[in-house]
Amino acid sequence: MDNRSPFDVLIIGSGAAGLRLALELADGVRVAVLAKRQLTEGSSFYAQGGISAVLDPADTVESHVQDTLVAGAGLCHEDAVRFTVENGPAAIRWLIDRGVRFTPDENGAEPGYHLTREGGHSRRRIIHAADATGRAVETSLAEAVRAHANIRLFEYHIAIDLITAAKLGAARDRVLGAYVLDRASGRVEAFGARFVVLATGGASKVYLYTTNPDTASGDGIAMAWRAGCRVVNMEFNQFHPTCLYHPRAKSFLISEAVRGEGGRLLLPDGERFMPRFDPRAELAPRDIVARAIDHEMKRLGAESVFLDISHRPADFIRAHFPTIYERCLAFGIDMTREPIPVVPAAHYTCGGVATDLAGRTDLPGLYAIGETAHTGLHGANRMASNSLLECLVFAQAAGRDIQQRLDQVPLPDALPPWDESRVTDSDEEVVVSHNWDELRRFMWDYVGIVRTDKRLQRARRRVELLQHEIDEYYSNFRVTGDLIELRNLVQVAELIIRSAQARHESRGLHYTLDYPQPAPGKPRDTVLVPGAEDAGLIPARSR
Ligand code: FAD
Ligand code: SIN
Repeated sequence: MDNRSPFDVLIIGSGAAGLRLALELADGVRVAVLAKRQLTEGSSFYAQGGISAVLDPADTVESHVQDTLVAGAGLCHEDAVRFTVENGPAAIRWLIDRGVRFTPDENGAEPGYHLTREGGHSRRRIIHAADATGRAVETSLAEAVRAHANIRLFEYHIAIDLITAAKLGAARDRVLGAYVLDRASGRVEAFGARFVVLATGGASKVYLYTTNPDTASGDGIAMAWRAGCRVVNMEFNQFHPTCLYHPRAKSFLISEAVRGEGGRLLLPDGERFMPRFDPRAELAPRDIVARAIDHEMKRLGAESVFLDISHRPADFIRAHFPTIYERCLAFGIDMTREPIPVVPAAHYTCGGVATDLAGRTDLPGLYAIGETAHTGLHGANRMASNSLLECLVFAQAAGRDIQQRLDQVPLPDALPPWDESRVTDSDEEVVVSHNWDELRRFMWDYVGIVRTDKRLQRARRRVELLQHEIDEYYSNFRVTGDLIELRNLVQVAELIIRSAQARHESRGLHYTLDYPQPAPGKPRDTVLVPGAEDAGLIPARSR
C-alpha cells in the first residue's frame, strides 16, 4: 500500500480504543495510527483489574446497567449505558477470538473464565488476565495491527493540532487532518485524511500524583476544543483509592480487584474504617472510598492507609495478583504477610469530548473514542472496569459509522505545510519544566478530591497566568514533545477548573465543602462551548 498521507482514516492514539478501531476498519480501508511513544505505551497497557461484561449466565444486562447508573450518581446517559452493556459480551468474544488469554475459572464454571469483583458491581462480572489485563489485550491488538497490510503505524509521532476546513478559510467546516511532529527528525508534517479519530486517552497527568503513564496529557481533548468541539463534565476526575505509597514507586496501582477478593482498608493502628463510611465498605464506588481515605489521612495526619489481603492463602494471592505481588516485593513489601501502604491518585478522566453513540463529535469527520470521549456512560463517577469496555464498544461503533460514510467524502487536497518562519529554537527549556511542575502541583492542591470555591478561584487565576505564558512560548519557539503536552495540559486544566466552578453541588467525584449536597432537581451535565465564556448546565441526555 501507499505509505503516505492522505489516508482514509487517521487514528491518533494506539491504546485499546485506537487499535480496536484500526482492526475494525482495516479490511479495505487505508488506516494510519499515530502513537506518541512506542505503540503499546498508554493507560491500556497498564490496566490491571479487567473488563466488565455480562458473561455469567446468572448475571443480567439490567443488573450491569443499574450498577453503572448508581455509580454515575444520576449523570449517566442511560442510552449510552445500555448500548455499552448490551454490546459487552460480543466485545469480549471478539478479543477471545483474537487470542487474548483471560484467566480460566479453576472449577470450569460457566462462562469458563474467572470473574472478579470490583467497587460498585453487585456481582462478579469482571473478566481478566490475572492482574495484567491491559498488557494481554494491548499486546494482542498490537500484534494484529502490525501484521495488517492496510494499517500504517507511526510510532513517536505526536499530533499537535487538527487541520480544519474553517481554519483554511472554507465556509463549511470539516476536519481535514492533523499537524504531526516526528520526534525522531524534529519535522512537522501535515497528515491528511477523510476521517480523523481522537483516541488519545485521558488527562490525569494534570495532577501531581497519578496512576497514569506520561502519555495521559489530554491531547485529544485540547485539540478538539481548539477545533471548536464541546467538552462535557470535565470536573469529574476519578481518583483511584489505592496507589502504592513508596518513595521509589512511581505511580504503581494496587488493583481494586484486591479489595474485590477480600482486601480490607486499615488505618495505621490496624482499625478497619470503610464500614464507618458506607455499608458496601471497601467495595463502595471509588469516589466514596477515595474520599474516605482522604478524610482519614487528613484527620490523623497519616502519610498513607493500608490495604491488607494477607488473611487469604498465599498461593491464592500469588496466582491472582502476580504482578502486584512481585512489584510490592521489589519494594520490600510481602503482601501475603503484611498490609500494603496505599494513597489515592488521579486515575481517570470521566469527562471529555462530546460524542454520540457512534463516536461522532461536533466537527464533521472528527470522531473521539476511549477515555478522550464523553459518551455519557460514566456520569459523575466511572464504575470500575467499564472503561476498557467503552473503548472496545465505541471503537467498533465508530468503525461501522465511518465505513458507511467513507464513499461520501473525498480525500483532502494537499494541505498547507506547517509554518516555522517565525519561530526559533527555545532558549529556556526550564520554563517548560517549571510550568509542568507548578501546574500539576496546584491542580493537586486546589482541584483535588475535596474542593472549595476559594481553592478553585486560586487555581483559575494561576491557570490563566500559565496559559498566557505558555501561549507566548508556543508562538515564539519551535515545538517539542514536552511543549505540546504542556500546552494541552494547561488547556485541559482550565476546562476542569471552569467546569468545577460551574457545578454548585457535590455529586459523584466532584465534592466541594461549599455545596456539600447534590442540588435538588434534575442532575445536569456541564457543557463547555468554545467561544462561550460560561459553562452551560444542561440536563443529561435520555433520562
Ligand atoms: P490509552 O490506552 O491511554 O492510549 C492513548 C494513546 O494515545 C497512546 O497510544 C498515546 O501514545 C496516544 N497519544 C496521546 N496523545 C497523542 C498525540 N498528541 N499524538 C499521537 N498519539 C497520542 N480500565 C478498565 O476498564 N479496567 C482496568 O482494569 C483498568 N485498570 C487501569 C489501571 C491503570 C494503571 C490505569 C492507568 C488505567 C486503568 N484503567 C482500567 C483505565 C483504562 O486503562 C483506560 O481508560 C483506557 O485504557 C484508555 O484507553 P484509550 O485507548 O482511550 O487510551
Ligand atoms: C483496577 O484494577 O483497580 C483498575 C480498574 C479500573 O480502573 O477500571
